[in-house]
Amino acid sequence: MNTAKLDSHVEQERKRRRTFAIISHPDAGKTTLTEKLLLFGGSIEIAGAVRGRKSQRTATSDWMDLEKQRGISVSSTVLTFEYDDCQINLLDTPGHHDFSEDTYRTLMAADAAVMVIDLAKGIEAQTEKLFRVCALRKIPVLTFVNKVDRPGRDRLEILEEIERKFSIEAVPQNWPLGSGRDFSGVVDLESDRIHVFDPNTQARRLGSIETDWQAVRNHVAGDQLLRNDAGEPLVLNGLTPELVDEVHEEVELVRMAGATLEADRFLRGEQTPVYFGSALTDFGVEHFLKGFIDLCPPPGNRLSNIGPVPAGRKDFSGFVFKIQANLDPRHRDRVAFMRISSGKFERDMEVTVARSGKRLRLPRALRIFGQERETVDLAYPGDIIGVVCPGEFRLGDTLCEGDPVHYEPLPQFSPEFFAVLECPDTSRRKQFDRGIEQLVEEGAIQMFHDARSTRREMILAAVGELQFDVVKFRLESEYNTSTNIQWRPYKMARWFNLSEEEKGQLKLPFSSKIVRDQFGHDAVLLQSEWHAQTIQRDNPGIEFHAIRVSP
Ligand code: G4P
Repeated sequence: MNTAKLDSHVEQERKRRRTFAIISHPDAGKTTLTEKLLLFGGSIEIAGAVRGRKSQRTATSDWMDLEKQRGISVSSTVLTFEYDDCQINLLDTPGHHDFSEDTYRTLMAADAAVMVIDLAKGIEAQTEKLFRVCALRKIPVLTFVNKVDRPGRDRLEILEEIERKFSIEAVPQNWPLGSGRDFSGVVDLESDRIHVFDPNTQARRLGSIETDWQAVRNHVAGDQLLRNDAGEPLVLNGLTPELVDEVHEEVELVRMAGATLEADRFLRGEQTPVYFGSALTDFGVEHFLKGFIDLCPPPGNRLSNIGPVPAGRKDFSGFVFKIQANLDPRHRDRVAFMRISSGKFERDMEVTVARSGKRLRLPRALRIFGQERETVDLAYPGDIIGVVCPGEFRLGDTLCEGDPVHYEPLPQFSPEFFAVLECPDTSRRKQFDRGIEQLVEEGAIQMFHDARSTRREMILAAVGELQFDVVKFRLESEYNTSTNIQWRPYKMARWFNLSEEEKGQLKLPFSSKIVRDQFGHDAVLLQSEWHAQTIQRDNPGIEFHAIRVSP
């Protein structure tokens, strides 16, 4: 362990930071929940502020729209708000599947994740993929089961699905009282109080009552009158005495059979607290936010070549997890987004780029939100800053004060789209080659070449198809070269680590191709999941990896 002395001021700021990301499948309610969290934090005044930008980004599908889409989904990297004396940094992840490589990397900068699940749909494909990335980093995950105001699936079934798919213990923190039209509130399992919901009132929060099931049943049956904190008669929507009994039974079952949340098991990613709620109607959101503040860890140590580096040490360090070339003509520059890992960032400070050993001054750091930019003078562990970088940085670079440290490299994720890019104008060939080289170096796109062919054909690859559009556009706008995309039929890469002799003995389907990636690692390109299973079966004992984590 790196025994650098802690700085009391940095420590104080570190402890009040919470840096997290929301993972979900499109339409589960990520935007709505984000907006409600910002509302509680006082960062926005009206509901709809985030949504407005969202509808802008999904309106059409032409190139200009991609630019708009990048305006919000790629450019705004962090939404910051204060709640309960904590500074919350919500890392914005692109909603569009085509930018999920960006999302995967953004998760490398988060200390926790919130998984939003639609009660009616359960765990969907994109959520599953993103959860696996969180599991890889062993970051804690909180779960928000959304849309309880709509008819949905059995709640116990949802918990069971989370446990079965993710091998994680799901520990409910509250339990919905009915769902869909009958939804009447949530039972806080810790305080044992029922928070009553009435969709017909403006505030929708009618206070809470003690969970006395018999009294609730009598009230619903019309035999007793319960009043809320304000002394008004309780409105329990569409509840019937039978439904009250059903929920009562479920709550008893959950209490008896369910686990209790243990902080260290949650932090190790072995348990996920589950909150039921409705982001749209606000219900359960504040309860969730309070639980989140308690549970989400502040920035901690980060692994490096010299052991774990404490976030509260005096010397500044951070790593680049995203590089973005802005397409907005007003700011046509490249910005490297850095997560601060330790120490204090001050405007104009001098840092070392650990990879190149180069010393640099950082005269300008930015906080970027959509098209808005704000200069940052001071920042602390857990914060994200954008540094304008004319080609100085690469993805995964560590920047630091004092003795150089190298943080763990960013993982490389299996692409899903593969193509050969051609330059139709031979007179621009040199610029084209240089452009590709720089974009690969920067991490905008992955590159593989046929390890056995003398023709060194370069196959470019990305997790999402739109990443190719970005590369094409950047080759045009920054290198003045046009590009033809020739798609290749591969759908995935699997990395492996074998000697030359073992490699020669691999049994592979005809349609596959053995390649090397841009860092010289061996991989095989495959056309389907079925082929991936076949090579695993035909080559027992050999590990094929969909994510490469080694340097
Ligand atoms: P996303 O960012 O995960 O893609 O989802 P988003 O928040 O945009 O929500 C997707 C749709 O689900 C939206 O409806 C939104 O209003 C709705 N929604 C979100 N949370 C809840 C909830 O708790 N209850 C209910 N009933 N609906 C919810 P839409 O019709 O697609 O968009 P809009 O017309 O409302 O903007």
